Parts: sequence; C-alpha cells; structure tokens
Amino acid sequence: MHNKDLKQQTLEHYNLKSINNEDFNIGLIDLGLNSMWRYHQFLPIDIQDAITMGEGFTPLLKVELLDKKIFVKQEQLFPTGSYKDRGASVLMSYAKKMGVTHVVQDSSGNAGCSIAAYAAHANIACDIFVPADTSKAKLAQVRAYGANLILVDGDREATAANALLAAQNSYYASHCYNPIFFQGTKTFAYEVCEQLGWKAPDVVVLPAGNGTLVLGCYIGFKHLYESNVIAKIPKLVAVQAQNCAPLYNAWKQGLQEPLITTSGYTLAEGIAIADPVRGKEMIRAVNNTRGVFITVNDDEIIQALKLCTAKGFYIEPTSAATIAGLIKAQKIVEGETWVTLFSGHGLKSTEKILSILDADN
Ligand SMILES: Cc1ncc(COP(=O)(O)O)c(C=O)c1O
Repeated sequence: MHNKDLKQQTLEHYNLKSINNEDFNIGLIDLGLNSMWRYHQFLPIDIQDAITMGEGFTPLLKVELLDKKIFVKQEQLFPTGSYKDRGASVLMSYAKKMGVTHVVQDSSGNAGCSIAAYAAHANIACDIFVPADTSKAKLAQVRAYGANLILVDGDREATAANALLAAQNSYYASHCYNPIFFQGTKTFAYEVCEQLGWKAPDVVVLPAGNGTLVLGCYIGFKHLYESNVIAKIPKLVAVQAQNCAPLYNAWKQGLQEPLITTSGYTLAEGIAIADPVRGKEMIRAVNNTRGVFITVNDDEIIQALKLCTAKGFYIEPTSAATIAGLIKAQKIVEGETWVTLFSGHGLKSTEKILSILDADN
C-alpha cells in the first residue's frame, strides 16, 4: 500500500473523537496523588492499572522573561525529561491492560524516550524508530531502557514511514496517531487550571510539532469549559520553527490543512515536523481558541535559550523555541495571565548546547 494511504487509514483507525469523557468534576480529583494520575477518574484507565513513575503535577513557576512575569510549567522535570511522559504513561497503561507485549513507535527523540521508559516499566518490548541525526543523549536514553533502537537515514517523515510498516505487525504506540496518548497530554490543561485556582489562563504558548500538547491542551481545556469548571478556553499560541512551518504557512493563508514542506535545518529538532498527521486538527484547534501560529528562527531560539540558562533553567533548544515564541508573541496586556512550559531538559541536547556555547568563544 502507498504510504499516503497507509497514513490515512491509520489516522482513521485511531480516531481522536472516539473517546468520550464524563463531565469533569473537581470533587472527583484524587487529592492524595501528587501526580497527573490525580485525574484518573477522567482518564481511560483504572488507577490500579496505571503504569506510573509518579509523573506530572509539575510546578507552575512564575518566571521573569524579559520584563514580564510568566507562568512556566516545569515539564522538563518528568522521569525522562520531557512532558511526553504524560502521554506515554497513559498509553502504556492502556497497552498493558490490553495484553500487548510488543509496541512500535517513531519519534524525533523525546516521545521515543518516553515510550521506551514506560515500556520498560510495564515489561513490554518495543522498537523505537528515530532519524539517524537525533541527539545522542536521546539515543542513549532509548537504548538504556532496553528498547530496540532503529536509526533511519532521512528525515522525520522517512522515519514515520518505516514505523508505519513495522506497526502492521505490532501495536502502534504512536504519540501522533494513537488517541490514548492525547488523553495523557490533556492533563497539562487540568493541572494549569487547578494550579491557578480553577481559573483559565488568557493565553497558553505551546510548541507545535505533531501537536501532542496543542491537541492535548485543547481537549483538556475544552473538557473543563464544557463541564462549567472554567469560564473560557484560553487562546493557544502555537510555535513552529521558521525552517519547518507547515502549519504556520497554511494558517497565515487561511488554509485548513498543513502546507507540507521539506524541513530545513533547525536547532529545534522536536518541532521539525514537515508533515504533521494531525495538522488539520491542530489548525482547527488553534483557530477555535482565536489563537495564532508563529515562527521563530535559530537566532531567536539561541537568545531564548541563553535567557533561560542565565536564570538557572537548563532546557533543550526545542524547548527554548517555545520561549522564543512567547517573547515574540508577548504583547501582554496588564492583568492577563500567560502560561507556557519548559518542554524538554537541557541534558538531552548536550552537543547542540555545547556548539552554541563554543560559537561564542
Ligand atoms: C522538547 C520538545 N518540545 C516540544 C515538542 C513538540 O511536540 P508536539 O507538537 O508533538 O507536542 C517535542 C516533540 O518531540 C519535544 O521533544
């Protein structure tokens, strides 16, 4: 089968709309759990079946970025160093419960680390496909968890094509296709609102690669809004890398579907997704919140990285791209609440950070 047909078929098979939630009810939060599993009543997994390492409920810190104080969720503090653990914990819990013994996954690195870690925790075998030029620390992490690491020559799209074929004979634990993953990432929205005293922020600035957080946030905030827990859905500001911006390019022309590009080099490897499978849903989600897409270039990413490290926050360049986006988008009206995140730990990108530092000498 042609790869395009296979992708469409896989997307239809893993339909995001197929999961429905009961109304959100603050009284049903499991306050004894200091992790994202405190919301287990609203997850498609019973708490006794959770594959968990105590992930989530990350601090929401006020950080001064330029002259403004912004709430920054410390998502670099997850067991594997990125928020992808939200999705991996729920998805691997589901896979374990279903009796799955082997999974296939493809990623630009961090989602692979997360699936590999939670597969190890659940005693499930896994094959992780990544582009050959992925940061070495992420490759080491995947291998250390005991996963079978497959390096694919070519870009992120070539990697996905290889994984799609392999997934025909296994369970596809994809962070982009599998809707259970988004059930995990939606907890980001629950946590933000709980940490703000059940008030929705005005604006949330997010990275936009394959949309695990953009769509997870949209699902979570919408759920709270439709359950009358919050009074509005925040505007989502979705940040892409200038050299790989299929969503921004489409959105700015008023199109509903991504304009698939070839990905040029960017320091922000995690959002260098030229053909996001849920691109249409991402554009719709951002538009529904009256949000915007913006792009940042590598110089802006480097400046944002330096700004954060100078304050003691060690984050990877992909994570700095979101902060660069926030700085660019920042026309903060007095009194408005803006939230963003540190999406990935700096220890995952030692080589890239070293090259940035060396360039200054
Ligand atoms: C550190 C980091 N930030 C952001 C992203 C963006 O991911 P997505 O748009 O799929 O949520 C990724 C994806 O791998 C990542 O690794």
